[in-house]
Amino acid sequence: MSLRKRTAVLISGRGSNLQALLDAAADPAFAAEISLVVSNIPEAPGLARARAAGIAAKTIAHRSYPTREAFDADLDRELRAHGIEIVCLAGFMRILSDGFVKAWAGRMVNIHPSLLPAFKGIDVHRRVLDAGVRVTGCTVHFVVSELDSGPIIAQAAVPVLTSDTEESIAARTLEAEHRLYPLALRLLAEGRAKLVGNKTEFSDESSGAGALFNPAA
Ligand code: GRF
Repeated sequence: MSLRKRTAVLISGRGSNLQALLDAAADPAFAAEISLVVSNIPEAPGLARARAAGIAAKTIAHRSYPTREAFDADLDRELRAHGIEIVCLAGFMRILSDGFVKAWAGRMVNIHPSLLPAFKGIDVHRRVLDAGVRVTGCTVHFVVSELDSGPIIAQAAVPVLTSDTEESIAARTLEAEHRLYPLALRLLAEGRAKLVGNKTEFSDESSGAGALFNPAA
């Protein structure tokens, strides 16, 4: 019997973060196994990555549901049918209803391509460049009802160069995302990061310290 945490990854598109999680979980010593991939978009290229890894890939097309709640209810049923314990949002472009978010509180995480709480929402890299910040990055956080606002599990810092374009900063940030998401999922799956009230608690100092990368510029 496996003690690895059964994890679902929710996607809407390319799925490069899904790939990073699949690659990390290919190691049997990794504390989470990817058991299910769900896309709300039937054409999402990420679905092929799941199938290539031999993992159940399911489309729940939000367009065929009359309400957000009806979509979320089916999603919830699917997750439970697969015995899912952890949900990772990875480029999942759907707002989830309050009821769904509460049902999965402390067990659902998201990755966002900025150092939250700065630059929530969309068009992140454009706004990073406009603001002239010298450091940006990415964040893995617990999902709460307010968008991009949940307690933080891990962050990676990424330098902003004067020559950067939206594309170059997105690419550099994405590389950091691919290293950060597996690390954050491991902290959660090993019980070393936990949602307690509205804060993340770390069971040991090293898991907090390990949550920050400082890549050389
Ligand atoms: C990533 O930049 C992620 O931070 C954001 O959406 C993008 C998804 O990319 N939430 P991918 O589908 O994982 O390649």
